[in-house]
This record gives sequence, C-alpha cells and structure tokens, in this order.
Amino acid sequence: MSTESERGQFQRLSETGRPQITIHVDGEPVTALAGDTVMTALLLAGARLREFEFGGGGRRDARAGFCLMGACQDCWVNVEGGGSLRACTSYVSEGLRLTTGGGEAR
Ligand code: FES
Repeated sequence: MSTESERGQFQRLSETGRPQITIHVDGEPVTALAGDTVMTALLLAGARLREFEFGGGGRRDARAGFCLMGACQDCWVNVEGGGSLRACTSYVSEGLRLTTGGGEAR
C-alpha cells in the first residue's frame, strides 16, 4: 500500500503485543493488530484511507478522515464484493478485503 516515499500517517506507540491479523487493501496484504480500527490499520500502512470520489475534472484527492469519531463520514472505504464501512468506527477482522479507490455508493 505504501511506496518508499509514502509513510504511514499514524505510528503505533503502544499496545504492540496484541495478536497480528492480515487484511487486504487493494489486493495487497496489510498487517494489523486485533482490536485496531480499519482507520488505524490503513493509516499505519499508508498516508491515505481512500480517494475522494467527487473531485472535479477527474481529480481523485486522497482522504485520510477528519473527525476520527464517526461524525464527518469522510472515512468510508469499500469492501470487496460490495458494501462499505466507516473506517474510524469499524474494527479489522482476519481476511477483511477492502478497496480504497472510491466511487462506490454506500
Ligand atoms: S473520520 Fe469522521 S466519520 Fe470517520
């Protein structure tokens, strides 16, 4: 998910002993810890949650959430196969598969 020039927005500072689980983001494996929110997992792994689907002129701005508490709705990510979830209030689970390209209705 991250390139060499792209670092995670978040850094894990504590609670490093929880069991590891693997989710997939845009087809790539991402390691998270049990109890992480989807937002935590994605922003530890990279600099964005998703692309903003309403950018003008084909622009696809990167989004990283705003309120971090379920109020702004800026953090919806798509679940492979249909549906979406709010990254800041949803927990990771083993085998979760997400896409971050935007454009899918909630
Ligand atoms: S960051 Fe605001 S609802 Fe998730």
